Amino acid sequence: MKKVVLAYSGGLDTSCIVRWLKDKGYVVICFVADLGQGLGEGENLKAIEERAFAAGASKVYIKDLQDEFVEDFVLPALKAGAVYERKYLLATALGRPLIAKYLVQIAHKEKAGAIAHGCTGKGNDQVRFEVTAGILDPSLEILAPVRDWEFKSREEEIEYAKAHRIPIDVTRKKPYSIDRNIWGVSIEAGVLENLEQEPPEDAYCMTKSPTQTASYPRYLELYFEKGTPKKIDGKPAKLKHLISQLNEIGGFHGIGRSDLVENRLVGIKSREIYEAPAATILHTAHREVEALVLDRELAHFKEIVSLKYSELVYYGLWYSELKDALDAFVESTQKNVTGTIKLKLSKGCCVPVARKSVHSLYKKELSTYGKEDVFDQKLAEGFIKIWGMPYKR
Ligand code: ARG
Repeated sequence: MKKVVLAYSGGLDTSCIVRWLKDKGYVVICFVADLGQGLGEGENLKAIEERAFAAGASKVYIKDLQDEFVEDFVLPALKAGAVYERKYLLATALGRPLIAKYLVQIAHKEKAGAIAHGCTGKGNDQVRFEVTAGILDPSLEILAPVRDWEFKSREEEIEYAKAHRIPIDVTRKKPYSIDRNIWGVSIEAGVLENLEQEPPEDAYCMTKSPTQTASYPRYLELYFEKGTPKKIDGKPAKLKHLISQLNEIGGFHGIGRSDLVENRLVGIKSREIYEAPAATILHTAHREVEALVLDRELAHFKEIVSLKYSELVYYGLWYSELKDALDAFVESTQKNVTGTIKLKLSKGCCVPVARKSVHSLYKKELSTYGKEDVFDQKLAEGFIKIWGMPYKR
Protein backbone atom coordinates (compact mmCIF):
# COMPACT_ATOMS: atom_id res chain seq x y z
CA MET A 1 0.00 0.00 0.00
CA LYS A 2 1.17 3.56 -0.79
CA LYS A 3 1.53 5.66 2.33
CA VAL A 4 1.25 9.43 2.60
CA VAL A 5 1.75 11.86 5.50
CA LEU A 6 -0.67 14.78 5.33
CA ALA A 7 -0.36 18.15 7.08
CA TYR A 8 -3.79 18.14 8.69
CA SER A 9 -5.51 21.17 10.21
CA GLY A 10 -8.93 19.75 10.98
CA GLY A 11 -10.60 22.09 8.51
CA LEU A 12 -12.81 21.29 5.55
CA ASP A 13 -10.07 21.09 2.90
CA THR A 14 -7.69 18.78 4.70
CA SER A 15 -10.57 16.60 5.94
CA CYS A 16 -11.78 16.09 2.38
CA ILE A 17 -8.20 15.42 1.32
CA VAL A 18 -7.94 12.49 3.74
CA ARG A 19 -10.87 10.75 2.11
CA TRP A 20 -9.88 11.76 -1.41
CA LEU A 21 -6.39 10.30 -1.00
CA LYS A 22 -7.79 7.18 0.58
CA ASP A 23 -10.01 6.67 -2.46
CA LYS A 24 -6.90 7.02 -4.62
CA GLY A 25 -5.44 4.06 -2.78
CA TYR A 26 -3.30 5.74 -0.13
CA VAL A 27 -2.94 4.93 3.52
CA VAL A 28 -3.24 8.38 5.05
CA ILE A 29 -1.33 9.44 8.14
CA CYS A 30 -2.34 12.82 9.51
CA PHE A 31 0.04 15.20 11.17
CA VAL A 32 -1.32 18.06 13.27
CA ALA A 33 1.27 20.66 14.22
CA ASP A 34 0.44 22.79 17.23
CA LEU A 35 2.14 26.14 16.62
CA GLY A 36 -0.13 27.94 19.05
CA GLN A 37 -3.05 28.42 16.69
CA GLY A 38 -5.36 28.06 19.65
CA LEU A 39 -5.77 24.29 19.55
CA GLY A 40 -4.25 24.21 23.02
CA GLU A 41 -7.12 22.84 25.02
CA GLY A 42 -7.28 19.03 25.13
CA GLU A 43 -10.91 19.17 24.06
CA ASN A 44 -10.06 20.75 20.74
CA LEU A 45 -7.17 18.43 19.93
CA LYS A 46 -9.34 15.43 20.69
CA ALA A 47 -11.99 16.73 18.28
CA ILE A 48 -9.42 17.20 15.52
CA GLU A 49 -8.04 13.74 16.05
CA GLU A 50 -11.52 12.23 15.92
CA ARG A 51 -12.32 14.13 12.75
CA ALA A 52 -9.15 12.85 11.09
CA PHE A 53 -10.09 9.27 11.91
CA ALA A 54 -13.69 9.80 10.83
CA ALA A 55 -12.42 11.15 7.50
CA GLY A 56 -10.41 7.97 7.01
CA ALA A 57 -6.97 8.52 8.53
CA SER A 58 -5.22 5.38 9.68
CA LYS A 59 -3.00 7.19 12.16
CA VAL A 60 -2.81 10.68 13.66
CA TYR A 61 0.24 12.46 15.02
CA ILE A 62 -0.29 15.58 17.10
CA LYS A 63 2.79 17.50 18.14
CA ASP A 64 3.15 20.60 20.27
CA LEU A 65 5.86 22.47 18.38
CA GLN A 66 5.42 25.84 20.04
CA ASP A 67 8.77 25.90 21.80
CA GLU A 68 10.69 24.80 18.75
CA PHE A 69 8.76 27.30 16.64
CA VAL A 70 9.56 30.29 18.81
CA GLU A 71 13.15 29.32 19.64
CA ASP A 72 14.34 28.14 16.22
CA PHE A 73 12.19 30.08 13.76
CA VAL A 74 10.63 33.15 15.37
CA LEU A 75 13.68 34.21 17.37
CA PRO A 76 16.18 34.24 14.47
CA ALA A 77 13.64 36.22 12.42
CA LEU A 78 13.22 38.70 15.28
CA LYS A 79 16.97 39.15 15.63
CA ALA A 80 17.20 39.62 11.88
CA GLY A 81 14.44 42.25 11.95
CA ALA A 82 12.61 40.32 9.25
CA VAL A 83 9.51 42.18 8.06
CA TYR A 84 8.10 41.54 4.57
CA GLU A 85 7.11 44.60 2.59
CA ARG A 86 7.28 46.72 5.74
CA LYS A 87 4.12 45.29 7.29
CA TYR A 88 4.07 41.50 7.49
CA LEU A 89 5.87 39.93 10.45
CA LEU A 90 5.83 36.54 8.72
CA ALA A 91 3.87 34.37 11.18
CA THR A 92 2.53 32.03 8.51
CA ALA A 93 5.74 31.96 6.48
CA LEU A 94 7.86 31.04 9.51
CA GLY A 95 5.62 28.13 10.43
CA ARG A 96 5.74 26.31 7.10
CA PRO A 97 9.33 25.06 7.05
CA LEU A 98 8.87 23.65 10.56
CA ILE A 99 5.72 21.77 9.58
CA ALA A 100 7.45 20.50 6.44
CA LYS A 101 10.43 19.32 8.50
CA TYR A 102 8.10 17.13 10.59
CA LEU A 103 6.20 15.86 7.56
CA VAL A 104 9.51 14.58 6.22
CA GLN A 105 10.54 13.17 9.59
CA ILE A 106 7.26 11.30 10.04
CA ALA A 107 7.40 10.05 6.44
CA HIS A 108 10.79 8.51 7.23
CA LYS A 109 9.55 6.96 10.45
CA GLU A 110 6.45 5.54 8.77
CA LYS A 111 8.31 4.53 5.62
CA ALA A 112 5.89 6.62 3.59
CA GLY A 113 6.91 7.59 0.08
CA ALA A 114 4.85 10.76 -0.07
CA ILE A 115 3.75 13.83 1.83
CA ALA A 116 0.70 15.99 1.18
CA HIS A 117 -0.60 19.44 2.02
CA GLY A 118 -3.86 21.32 1.59
CA CYS A 119 -2.56 24.49 -0.04
CA THR A 120 -4.04 25.96 -3.19
CA GLY A 121 -2.05 26.44 -6.36
CA LYS A 122 -2.13 30.22 -6.02
CA GLY A 123 -0.40 30.87 -2.74
CA ASN A 124 3.02 30.99 -1.16
CA ASP A 125 2.47 28.15 1.28
CA GLN A 126 2.59 25.39 -1.35
CA VAL A 127 5.99 26.74 -2.37
CA ARG A 128 7.27 26.81 1.22
CA PHE A 129 6.16 23.24 1.93
CA GLU A 130 7.46 21.80 -1.28
CA VAL A 131 10.75 23.65 -1.48
CA THR A 132 11.52 22.71 2.13
CA ALA A 133 10.60 19.06 1.60
CA GLY A 134 12.66 19.04 -1.59
CA ILE A 135 15.70 20.30 0.32
CA LEU A 136 15.27 17.85 3.19
CA ASP A 137 14.44 14.77 1.12
CA PRO A 138 14.17 15.13 -2.65
CA SER A 139 13.08 11.52 -3.03
CA LEU A 140 9.67 12.09 -1.42
CA GLU A 141 6.69 12.49 -3.69
CA ILE A 142 4.60 15.58 -2.95
CA LEU A 143 0.84 15.59 -3.33
CA ALA A 144 -1.24 18.76 -3.43
CA PRO A 145 -4.82 17.53 -3.93
CA VAL A 146 -6.38 20.99 -3.84
CA ARG A 147 -4.48 21.80 -7.04
CA ASP A 148 -5.72 18.67 -8.76
CA TRP A 149 -9.11 17.71 -7.52
CA GLU A 150 -12.47 18.19 -9.18
CA PHE A 151 -14.21 20.44 -6.63
CA LYS A 152 -14.79 23.93 -7.89
CA SER A 153 -16.27 25.55 -4.82
CA ARG A 154 -16.54 25.29 -1.10
CA GLU A 155 -20.15 24.15 -1.56
CA GLU A 156 -19.05 21.17 -3.64
CA GLU A 157 -16.56 20.23 -0.97
CA ILE A 158 -19.23 20.43 1.71
CA GLU A 159 -21.44 18.16 -0.41
CA TYR A 160 -18.55 15.69 -0.73
CA ALA A 161 -17.92 15.78 3.01
CA LYS A 162 -21.59 15.17 3.77
CA ALA A 163 -21.83 12.33 1.25
CA HIS A 164 -18.85 10.63 2.86
CA ARG A 165 -19.89 11.33 6.45
CA ILE A 166 -16.86 13.45 7.15
CA PRO A 167 -17.72 15.51 10.20
CA ILE A 168 -17.16 19.16 9.35
CA ASP A 169 -17.19 22.11 11.66
CA VAL A 170 -20.22 24.10 10.56
CA THR A 171 -19.79 26.46 13.48
CA ARG A 172 -16.99 28.11 11.53
CA LYS A 173 -18.89 31.15 10.42
CA LYS A 174 -16.12 33.59 9.61
CA PRO A 175 -16.14 34.10 5.85
CA TYR A 176 -12.36 34.44 5.65
CA SER A 177 -9.34 32.27 5.14
CA ILE A 178 -7.45 32.36 8.41
CA ASP A 179 -4.04 31.04 9.35
CA ARG A 180 -3.00 31.50 12.93
CA ASN A 181 -0.13 30.68 15.23
CA ILE A 182 1.52 32.14 18.32
CA TRP A 183 3.41 34.75 16.24
CA GLY A 184 0.27 36.14 14.61
CA VAL A 185 -2.70 35.62 12.37
CA SER A 186 -3.11 36.08 8.61
CA ILE A 187 -6.59 36.79 7.29
CA GLU A 188 -7.67 36.98 3.67
CA ALA A 189 -10.51 36.41 1.19
CA GLY A 190 -14.17 37.34 1.42
CA VAL A 191 -14.82 41.07 1.52
CA LEU A 192 -11.11 41.71 2.07
CA GLU A 193 -10.66 41.15 -1.66
CA ASN A 194 -12.29 44.52 -2.22
CA LEU A 195 -9.32 46.88 -1.87
CA GLU A 196 -11.52 49.92 -1.69
CA GLN A 197 -13.16 48.77 1.49
CA GLU A 198 -11.87 49.02 5.05
CA PRO A 199 -11.65 45.58 6.70
CA PRO A 200 -14.76 44.98 8.78
CA GLU A 201 -14.18 44.69 12.51
CA ASP A 202 -15.28 41.03 12.53
CA ALA A 203 -12.25 40.08 10.43
CA TYR A 204 -9.91 40.60 13.38
CA CYS A 205 -9.41 37.95 16.02
CA MET A 206 -6.44 38.85 18.26
CA THR A 207 -6.81 42.58 18.78
CA LYS A 208 -9.40 45.04 19.98
CA SER A 209 -10.18 47.91 17.68
CA PRO A 210 -7.80 50.74 18.61
CA THR A 211 -10.81 53.02 18.90
CA GLN A 212 -12.36 50.72 21.50
CA THR A 213 -9.37 50.20 23.77
CA ALA A 214 -8.71 51.51 27.25
CA SER A 215 -8.16 55.25 27.54
CA TYR A 216 -5.15 54.72 29.81
CA PRO A 217 -1.77 53.58 28.49
CA ARG A 218 0.08 50.47 29.58
CA TYR A 219 3.77 50.85 30.28
CA LEU A 220 5.83 47.76 29.69
CA GLU A 221 9.49 46.92 30.20
CA LEU A 222 11.29 44.37 28.08
CA TYR A 223 14.80 43.16 28.77
CA PHE A 224 16.88 41.65 25.97
CA GLU A 225 20.11 39.68 26.29
CA LYS A 226 22.19 39.31 23.13
CA GLY A 227 19.08 39.97 21.08
CA THR A 228 16.85 37.51 22.93
CA PRO A 229 13.90 38.77 24.97
CA LYS A 230 14.40 37.47 28.50
CA LYS A 231 12.23 39.46 30.90
CA ILE A 232 8.92 41.19 30.90
CA ASP A 233 8.42 43.87 33.55
CA GLY A 234 11.52 42.58 35.32
CA LYS A 235 10.30 38.98 35.48
CA PRO A 236 12.20 36.27 33.59
CA ALA A 237 9.99 34.38 31.16
CA LYS A 238 10.40 31.58 28.68
CA LEU A 239 10.06 32.91 25.13
CA LYS A 240 6.79 31.10 24.48
CA HIS A 241 5.20 32.52 27.62
CA LEU A 242 6.59 35.96 27.02
CA ILE A 243 5.03 35.98 23.55
CA SER A 244 1.67 34.75 24.87
CA GLN A 245 1.63 37.47 27.50
CA LEU A 246 2.49 40.12 24.96
CA ASN A 247 -0.27 38.90 22.65
CA GLU A 248 -2.69 39.31 25.52
CA ILE A 249 -1.49 42.77 26.57
CA GLY A 250 -0.94 44.02 23.03
CA GLY A 251 -4.29 42.71 21.81
CA PHE A 252 -6.01 44.49 24.68
CA HIS A 253 -4.49 47.80 23.52
CA GLY A 254 -5.18 47.21 19.82
CA ILE A 255 -1.52 46.75 18.89
CA GLY A 256 -0.28 44.94 15.79
CA ARG A 257 -2.86 45.25 13.03
CA SER A 258 -1.75 45.74 9.47
CA ASP A 259 -3.47 45.84 6.12
CA LEU A 260 -1.23 44.94 3.21
CA VAL A 261 -1.49 44.56 -0.55
CA GLU A 262 1.44 42.20 -0.97
CA ASN A 263 3.44 40.65 -3.75
CA ARG A 264 3.12 36.90 -3.64
CA LEU A 265 5.92 34.73 -4.89
CA VAL A 266 3.67 33.31 -7.61
CA GLY A 267 3.28 36.73 -9.18
CA ILE A 268 -0.12 37.72 -7.84
CA LYS A 269 -0.87 40.78 -5.75
CA SER A 270 -3.20 40.01 -2.89
CA ARG A 271 -4.71 41.85 0.03
CA GLU A 272 -4.24 40.33 3.45
CA ILE A 273 -4.70 41.70 6.92
CA TYR A 274 -2.47 40.66 9.79
CA GLU A 275 -2.56 40.80 13.54
CA ALA A 276 0.63 40.28 15.46
CA PRO A 277 0.54 42.02 18.84
CA ALA A 278 3.53 40.31 20.45
CA ALA A 279 5.57 40.35 17.27
CA THR A 280 4.95 44.08 16.80
CA ILE A 281 5.94 44.89 20.37
CA LEU A 282 9.05 42.68 20.25
CA HIS A 283 10.26 44.02 16.89
CA THR A 284 9.76 47.59 18.13
CA ALA A 285 11.67 46.97 21.34
CA HIS A 286 14.43 44.94 19.70
CA ARG A 287 15.02 47.65 17.10
CA GLU A 288 15.28 50.15 19.93
CA VAL A 289 18.06 48.25 21.71
CA GLU A 290 19.89 48.01 18.41
CA ALA A 291 19.53 51.75 17.86
CA LEU A 292 21.41 52.22 21.09
CA VAL A 293 24.22 49.71 20.71
CA LEU A 294 24.98 49.20 17.01
CA ASP A 295 27.36 51.62 15.35
CA ARG A 296 26.04 53.52 12.35
CA GLU A 297 27.53 51.42 9.56
CA LEU A 298 26.58 48.11 11.17
CA ALA A 299 23.04 49.36 11.79
CA HIS A 300 22.59 50.52 8.21
CA PHE A 301 24.06 47.38 6.70
CA LYS A 302 21.86 45.24 8.90
CA GLU A 303 18.80 46.90 7.38
CA ILE A 304 19.82 45.55 3.99
CA VAL A 305 20.21 42.11 5.52
CA SER A 306 16.78 42.40 7.18
CA LEU A 307 15.20 43.07 3.83
CA LYS A 308 16.86 40.08 2.19
CA TYR A 309 16.14 37.87 5.19
CA SER A 310 12.43 38.70 5.02
CA GLU A 311 12.37 37.74 1.35
CA LEU A 312 14.05 34.41 2.01
CA VAL A 313 11.52 33.59 4.72
CA TYR A 314 8.62 34.67 2.54
CA TYR A 315 9.93 32.71 -0.44
CA GLY A 316 10.25 29.47 1.53
CA LEU A 317 14.05 29.42 1.49
CA TRP A 318 14.49 28.85 5.22
CA TYR A 319 16.82 25.90 4.71
CA SER A 320 19.01 27.66 2.17
CA GLU A 321 22.71 28.42 2.40
CA LEU A 322 22.14 32.12 2.04
CA LYS A 323 19.75 32.07 4.99
CA ASP A 324 22.37 30.20 7.07
CA ALA A 325 25.01 32.73 6.10
CA LEU A 326 22.74 35.65 6.99
CA ASP A 327 21.98 33.99 10.34
CA ALA A 328 25.68 33.93 11.10
CA PHE A 329 25.95 37.62 10.25
CA VAL A 330 22.88 38.51 12.32
CA GLU A 331 24.13 36.50 15.28
CA SER A 332 27.41 38.40 15.21
CA THR A 333 25.50 41.70 15.35
CA GLN A 334 23.65 40.63 18.48
CA LYS A 335 26.53 40.32 20.92
CA ASN A 336 25.85 43.77 22.37
CA VAL A 337 22.10 43.77 21.95
CA THR A 338 21.46 43.68 25.67
CA GLY A 339 19.31 46.22 27.42
CA THR A 340 15.95 47.30 28.71
CA ILE A 341 13.30 49.14 26.75
CA LYS A 342 10.29 50.80 28.26
CA LEU A 343 7.33 50.96 25.90
CA LYS A 344 4.07 52.81 26.04
CA LEU A 345 1.11 50.92 24.60
CA SER A 346 -2.01 52.82 23.86
CA LYS A 347 -4.77 52.95 21.26
CA GLY A 348 -3.06 50.68 18.75
CA CYS A 349 0.35 52.34 19.15
CA CYS A 350 3.45 50.90 20.67
CA VAL A 351 6.24 53.41 21.23
CA PRO A 352 9.53 53.14 23.04
CA VAL A 353 9.76 55.87 25.66
CA ALA A 354 12.90 54.95 27.62
CA ARG A 355 15.93 52.73 27.10
CA LYS A 356 19.15 51.65 28.74
CA SER A 357 22.00 49.31 27.96
CA VAL A 358 25.42 48.53 29.37
CA HIS A 359 26.65 48.58 25.77
CA SER A 360 25.05 51.88 24.89
CA LEU A 361 27.06 53.97 22.44
CA TYR A 362 25.17 57.11 23.38
CA LYS A 363 27.45 59.69 24.95
CA LYS A 364 25.52 62.48 26.53
CA GLU A 365 28.64 64.63 26.92
CA LEU A 366 28.94 64.63 23.12
CA SER A 367 25.32 65.14 22.14
CA THR A 368 24.29 67.59 24.81
CA TYR A 369 23.53 71.24 24.17
CA GLY A 370 24.06 71.88 27.86
CA LYS A 371 27.16 73.01 29.69
CA GLU A 372 28.62 69.50 30.14
CA ASP A 373 29.41 69.55 26.41
CA VAL A 374 32.91 68.22 25.59
CA PHE A 375 32.53 68.08 21.79
CA ASP A 376 35.12 70.28 20.12
CA GLN A 377 32.99 72.14 17.58
CA LYS A 378 36.04 73.63 15.88
CA LEU A 379 36.90 70.17 14.53
CA ALA A 380 33.67 70.16 12.51
CA GLU A 381 34.99 72.80 10.12
CA GLY A 382 37.88 70.69 8.86
CA PHE A 383 35.81 67.56 8.82
CA ILE A 384 33.17 69.13 6.58
CA LYS A 385 35.79 70.54 4.21
CA ILE A 386 37.38 67.18 3.64
CA TRP A 387 34.19 65.16 3.66
CA GLY A 388 32.48 67.49 1.14
CA MET A 389 35.56 67.92 -1.04
CA PRO A 390 34.65 65.39 -3.75
CA TYR A 391 31.31 67.08 -4.37
CA LYS A 392 32.54 70.62 -4.87
CA ARG A 393 32.28 72.03 -8.38
N1 ARG B 1 0.05 35.92 2.77
C1 ARG B 1 0.65 35.24 3.87
C2 ARG B 1 1.86 34.47 3.43
O1 ARG B 1 2.01 34.19 2.28
C3 ARG B 1 -0.31 34.33 4.60
C4 ARG B 1 -0.81 33.13 3.82
C5 ARG B 1 -1.89 32.33 4.49
N2 ARG B 1 -3.04 33.14 4.74
C6 ARG B 1 -4.25 32.71 5.02
N3 ARG B 1 -5.13 33.63 5.32
N4 ARG B 1 -4.60 31.47 5.03
O2 ARG B 1 2.68 34.15 4.25
